[in-house]
Amino acid sequence: MNKIGIFFGTETGTTRLVAKKIHKILGDEIADKPVNVNRISPEDLLRYDVLILGTPSYGVAEIPGRSAGCLESNWEEFLAQLDGADLSGKRIALFGLGAQERYADRFAGSLIRLYQSLIERGAEIVGNWSTEGYVFEHSPSIVDGHFVGLVIDQRTQGMLTDQRIETWLEQVKPLLLERVAAAA
Ligand SMILES: Cc1cc2nc3c(=O)[nH]c(=O)nc-3n(C[C@H](O)[C@H](O)[C@H](O)COP(=O)(O)O)c2cc1C
Repeated sequence: MNKIGIFFGTETGTTRLVAKKIHKILGDEIADKPVNVNRISPEDLLRYDVLILGTPSYGVAEIPGRSAGCLESNWEEFLAQLDGADLSGKRIALFGLGAQERYADRFAGSLIRLYQSLIERGAEIVGNWSTEGYVFEHSPSIVDGHFVGLVIDQRTQGMLTDQRIETWLEQVKPLLLERVAAAA
């Protein structure tokens, strides 16, 4: 598939909103419309070589889904369907939602769980993001001093969201397009 696939999990719609902003900036030419993972089967995602995946944070750094108290199916239920799928050769950029004031001790904690489950299946993850500008005590989603993907806090720093998305996409877009071209 010679486009970028965008998929997200959400409970209250914020991760969908961010996914839509990302899609709007990238445009229809290079990215397909974002789709909720609770509406797809594994094949819908696996047909893309290049992906942008987003997750909210729920539970104590758990993968969002019913076990973390969500009412809607989310990444937990989708990843269970993925089973032993091989993601090697796929280049994936991640974004995660969180609330740094309220959950300062586990800010954007679910992002690391999505990251780990994709790495375990052989995916290449790109697009890490600086922790500068956020105020929190601890985040499980930091590897080598950077968040493993773009982190958005719509609750307390919503006014920074558009700029953060734009800056992140400037960084990650060339890496994603390079892989799209190689796969074409
Ligand atoms: C019950 C509950 C638990 C949450 N747990 C965390 C958490 O551990 N870490 C964090 O950064 N944000 C946490 N949040 C904040 C959400 O991740 C944040 O509001 C996010 O934008 C929700 O995305 P959604 O609207 O796509 O579901 C929690 C929110 C709720 C209601």
